[in-house]
Amino acid sequence: MALNAAREAIEQAVAERQAQLESAELDRALTEESVDITLPGERLRRGRLHPITQIRREVEDIFVGLGYEVVDGNEVETVEYIFDKLNMPEGHVTRSPLHTYYLNGDVVLRTETSASQVRTMEAKPPPVYMVSLGRVYRRDTPDPKRYPIFHQVEGLAVDKGITLADLKGTLQLLLRRLFGEEREVRIRTSFFPFTEPSVEADVSCFICNQAGCRVCEYEGWIEVGGAGMVDPNVFEAVGYDPEEVSGFAFGWGLERIFMLRHGLPDIRMLWQNDIRLLEQF
Ligand code: DAH
Repeated sequence: MALNAAREAIEQAVAERQAQLESAELDRALTEESVDITLPGERLRRGRLHPITQIRREVEDIFVGLGYEVVDGNEVETVEYIFDKLNMPEGHVTRSPLHTYYLNGDVVLRTETSASQVRTMEAKPPPVYMVSLGRVYRRDTPDPKRYPIFHQVEGLAVDKGITLADLKGTLQLLLRRLFGEEREVRIRTSFFPFTEPSVEADVSCFICNQAGCRVCEYEGWIEVGGAGMVDPNVFEAVGYDPEEVSGFAFGWGLERIFMLRHGLPDIRMLWQNDIRLLEQF
């Protein structure tokens, strides 16, 4: 009996002390750890998309709005798809290892997005309305206008009765969306192995509105990129009948579009990732 009484006394003392310590800890926490929720918080800096990603999405949206499909191409291509099936003759300068990065035998880093045309047409019968955007690689020394990696948008429309007028109208819509609804489009003859006829497209100068300025070099027009009617040899390479269908294609640099639109003087700035530049867009 004596031992039980002693045990109870000890247990009670322990319980009392424990309750005391817990309430003291609670008092301390309530006074010391209180948070003033009215103080301003630490703002998280919000990131943004790189300007080239923004342009890329803008161009994709324009073509999705026209009913085009957006197709992924391969950044690593074979000589067959990037040169042979695009009707590039043996000895064409772009086949040279001084111009193109050869990875292994006839495997290269693509120099242009045009192989996506061939792969899309091989994968399905006409009609085709597609754009394909992504990186391309050339063995260029960086300078204000060139960088060994850049981005292109490739476009291809194949159907019955497509004409140069459809090409011009489509490019006009694209250029008006990019550079303003008042813009005019001009096409000039040019040459690419995979189009016949080939053209270069110009947009009326959006700086001076054709009055003449340094940006358009007092021409009133600014060159944006190549285009043309798909060469019958390309249709034959993919198993389309050039007597049945016709089509147009174009391939433009996204960096060039961005630099023109925003007056960026040097393409290398887009690769330096200087926050002071990037956060302006
Ligand atoms: N692939 C050409 C280049 O990189 C651009 C180009 C021109 C693409 C005409 C086309 C086209 O699809 O029809 O210089």
